[in-house]
Amino acid sequence: MSKVTVVGAGNVGATCANVLVTEGIADEVVLLDIKEGVSEGKAMDIMQTANILNLNTVLRGVTNDYSATAGSDVVIITSGIPRKPGMTREELIGVNAGIVKSVTSQVLAASPDAIIICISNPMDTMTYLIHKTSGLPKNRIIGMGGALDSARFKYFLSQALGANATEVEGIVIGGHGDTTMIPLTRYAAYRGVPASQYLSTETLAKVAADTMVGGATLTKLLGTSAWYAPGAAGAQVAKAILHNEKKLISCSALLDGEYGQSDLCIGVPCILGKNGIEKIVEFELDETEKALFEKSAAAVKATNAALATAL
Ligand code: LAC
Repeated sequence: MSKVTVVGAGNVGATCANVLVTEGIADEVVLLDIKEGVSEGKAMDIMQTANILNLNTVLRGVTNDYSATAGSDVVIITSGIPRKPGMTREELIGVNAGIVKSVTSQVLAASPDAIIICISNPMDTMTYLIHKTSGLPKNRIIGMGGALDSARFKYFLSQALGANATEVEGIVIGGHGDTTMIPLTRYAAYRGVPASQYLSTETLAKVAADTMVGGATLTKLLGTSAWYAPGAAGAQVAKAILHNEKKLISCSALLDGEYGQSDLCIGVPCILGKNGIEKIVEFELDETEKALFEKSAAAVKATNAALATAL
């Protein structure tokens, strides 16, 4: 029996719960929100697809009742405000830091053995905040950003290649920010063949640029931040843990010397399994990629420094 809690029944949280249920990723899912009735309503709406879609997962919505989340194997935190057009993810820190800190302590009181997946923005800094305030071992705190950014990278690659997105390989490391993420175009591939054999340097650079502003582009179109891919990426990370998949997924992890960095959470390739982050894989980076990673880490650390005043 596996149990997942999703905190926050906004667009991202509800979509994440929907994917967990429709894909049968967990046996039991609890969706929690502070707004009276919202998670109950969304859970009921989703469960009314059970007969249509032949679902076996049980989803329950609760208003701020952490006792219902007790014994969760995985807790996905989506709480906080999303960005509006023109805003950066970093600008959300003032409001979201307090929310994420309080949610973390409440979920851990009910589920002390849970593995935490952080989606709230600014994602790398919120993941770091959970490390700093929870005292959990580093394998049990995972930021979702790289999974989403890599999915967007593979989407833009597949569009440029005219290929099926499931046959494309690509990974994004670095911070989950418009200027901090690093789509590794050198390692992008189509069925094992380097994408550079099919796409010009200019096209690959455009794919990388579109990936980096992928979230901002959607925020402009939608008037609020995206939810389908962010919610699904959260569910993908939960699945890798619950099903002990040992999949390599880019996630925000606490670094302790890997990639030459320490004391920050940032996107790196991780092997995910039943223990959470089971291994950080160190890709060989060339000089340009190394310089980009250092710059990205410095920017994430600068945002982390704002936590001191945000809390
Ligand atoms: C995005 C938000 C969820 O990238 O960070 O769409």
